[in-house]
Amino acid sequence: MVMNFDIDRYLELVAPLDDSDIDYDAFLTDPLDEETLRCLRYMHDVEFHTTCYLRDLLVTAAHDDPEITAFLAMWSYEEYWHGEAIAKVLDRHDESHGRQRIAATRRRVGRERMTTLAMMLGSALSEHVVTVALTWGAVNEWTTQAGYVQLAKRSGHPVLGELLRRIAKQEGRHIDFYASQAARRLDASAGARRLTRLALRKRWRPVGSGVMPDVETEFLIAHLFGGDDGESMAARIDRRLARLPGLDHLGIVTSARLKLSNS
Ligand SMILES: [Fe+2]
Ligand SMILES: [Fe+2]
Repeated sequence: MVMNFDIDRYLELVAPLDDSDIDYDAFLTDPLDEETLRCLRYMHDVEFHTTCYLRDLLVTAAHDDPEITAFLAMWSYEEYWHGEAIAKVLDRHDESHGRQRIAATRRRVGRERMTTLAMMLGSALSEHVVTVALTWGAVNEWTTQAGYVQLAKRSGHPVLGELLRRIAKQEGRHIDFYASQAARRLDASAGARRLTRLALRKRWRPVGSGVMPDVETEFLIAHLFGGDDGESMAARIDRRLARLPGLDHLGIVTSARLKLSNS
């Protein structure tokens, strides 16, 4: 499977999320339920954490590839505006949001600096660490997009639904990049396939783990990936992952879902 991603085409499409016609004030008279807000707090924090994920990618050999760095610069830009859009929703509910909330998240995850060091050392020891990171990125974009689609549905709120569908559409382009990079690199190297398979099997956790408290990750998975529709969403992501070279039958999203909903 070789997917194509055209970086020049992506650079033409890159833009801050267009929310100019989103009626955020609708939330003042028709507020969201507490469960939806809890998911949005999580998504807000994780979107704004992209800049830290970017840092951890740039200490690897990924920074040698100008196509990858062009994408990453624009990716972190688009994710930033996803965070800003969600911040506006939180603002209309009198919730902490934006820089004040981000500063609190950064203080909480100070210990995560070890990840940066591990990425740097890992990349120095193995050229395949970049493939692991890009495949990991594909899984995270797949699950993030699915999470937005599910939250739009669960909330039943027309304004939030429209906003989240627009965000999910941009996540689709991020998916195209990560999945095509992963496919190409996995296809080219048995060593990359072995290391990526091992890393995903042993280490993959839902996006936001390690940044958000475990109880919040558990809630998010149960709320968005619970039920029959959540189960088929998780299975669909696992099937997409299984189509990447050397990554068949991992089932990591389904097992994360089962583990969290049983705990
Ligand atoms: Fe995003
Ligand atoms: Fe994304």
